[in-house]
Amino acid sequence: MKQKSYGYSRQYIDQDDINAVVEVLKSDFLTTGPKVAEFEEAIRQYLGVKYAVCVSSGTASLHIAAICMLEKGDKVLTTPISFLATSNAIVYAQAVPVFVDVDDQANIDLNLCEDILKKDSTIKAIFAVDFAGNMVDPKGLMYLSQKFGVKILEDCAHSLGASFDSYKAGDCSFCDVATLSFHPVKSITSAEGGCVVTNSETIAKKATILRNHGIVRDSSAFIYSDENPLYFEMQELGFNYRLSDVHSALGLSQLKKIDLFLNTRRNLAKKYDKAFSNTPIRSLHKNASASYHLYVVRVNFKELGKRRADIIKSLKSNGIMLQTHYIPINAQPFYQKMGYDPLETPKAIEYYNECLSIPLYVGIDDSEQEFIIDAIKSEILY
Ligand SMILES: Cc1ncc(COP(=O)(O)O)c(C=O)c1O
Repeated sequence: MKQKSYGYSRQYIDQDDINAVVEVLKSDFLTTGPKVAEFEEAIRQYLGVKYAVCVSSGTASLHIAAICMLEKGDKVLTTPISFLATSNAIVYAQAVPVFVDVDDQANIDLNLCEDILKKDSTIKAIFAVDFAGNMVDPKGLMYLSQKFGVKILEDCAHSLGASFDSYKAGDCSFCDVATLSFHPVKSITSAEGGCVVTNSETIAKKATILRNHGIVRDSSAFIYSDENPLYFEMQELGFNYRLSDVHSALGLSQLKKIDLFLNTRRNLAKKYDKAFSNTPIRSLHKNASASYHLYVVRVNFKELGKRRADIIKSLKSNGIMLQTHYIPINAQPFYQKMGYDPLETPKAIEYYNECLSIPLYVGIDDSEQEFIIDAIKSEILY
């Protein structure tokens, strides 16, 4: 019999999701049809924001948001502990990432941001990431944006559904733009997909144009005129970052289940918290209303006298696939070649050397979680 394997995360698809996709496949529009607007409206309602512009991936949402927010050469504070897409988007927009070290939750350290902003008035924005589904303190971000006049982007790829006091990830009450990802491991999936959310009409309009090659079809916004009723204008250098109706239908169906998904993830997390309490396996998570995109543990392998590499390999042979989220971005060869030095963010390196993401997704049952806990404990502790 084939051994069951457990990745760090995966999608949960039910018959309603399949029916929603099949319905679109049988309809007239596979793309640029009505499902995209329906999905956008559902996101708008869920987050309580004015505008939601769906695009083909979380990376596309970051790219478009970066173009809307930044000018060439702008310096942007961001975190080394994220997926590459966050800082890559800054580079795509010909702006300059400034990597800030991380706090105890491996989120960008807002105290260090303040120190840098006090010294460098040329910094224009902060691209903050709600790592693992733990939100960066909204009040802290608001304080920095008001005090130093910097724009704020909240990368909510991990945090759709999370809250922090009265703030909801992506509600745009404390940031200019938030970006979402609907990759299969995220809170909800559209297979691939993303969204730019904002309360700014200007940004929403520009994002809508940029996702479709920079094309404008509304005659009242034309720069030139032409009597051809099929005339359109390309006013910006845009992209094909459209989300299809097939993907939108899946996303829409998944969004209806988000509360169920979040509760399940939070319950699994609670069991892990209990299982690892009073052990050298330390949970990264402190906020019960996080979205738990990941369940990250930290272990001081040196102190324990063990090699993380051996543990990863051994658990893999038992079907438990761990991950290390993330290798600090400023340690990547591309960034080091640009002159960045990971030693400038020592807490990010320390975090990276200790982190492990363990399986957390809808579909793990009680006995499977017991099996995972026992296997991890016996590898790491004994
Ligand atoms: C923090 C973060 N931002 C952005 C992205 C990019 O999203 P996508 O894979 O949908 O392009 C990811 C993807 O994993 C991510 O983890």
